[in-house]
Amino acid sequence: MPTEPLFQPVTSESRPTRTLNLTFNGKTLTVPAGISVAAALLMVGVTRFRATPVSEAPRAPYCMMGVCFECLVDIDGVPNRQSCLVEVSEGMKIRSQEGARDLIFQPVTNQALEVQP
Ligand code: FES
Repeated sequence: MPTEPLFQPVTSESRPTRTLNLTFNGKTLTVPAGISVAAALLMVGVTRFRATPVSEAPRAPYCMMGVCFECLVDIDGVPNRQSCLVEVSEGMKIRSQEGARDLIFQPVTNQALEVQP
């Protein structure tokens, strides 16, 4: 049974859409400004944002509101970014996230744990 989408994109003929350029896995893309990275990538046809650490199954955004973590990508060299919560910006370098990322571990020294009287 065919269904109509519940949501439609907001369009405004009086306000021209500003665009910007970013890259995804080295490919330059032109996307509308003011939208999330996830929305922009989906808009241009990207369907694989990351691969799971264990089975390397492809993943793409699901909730678009910061809950599911299926949209993780590397943005400007920072891994584990939720692309649905980050707004696009000019020159942004985005890469798909392949498997698990290293945890940044900074050991806490005993001096930092001392309580000051
Ligand atoms: S799409 Fe669910 S957290 Fe980004």
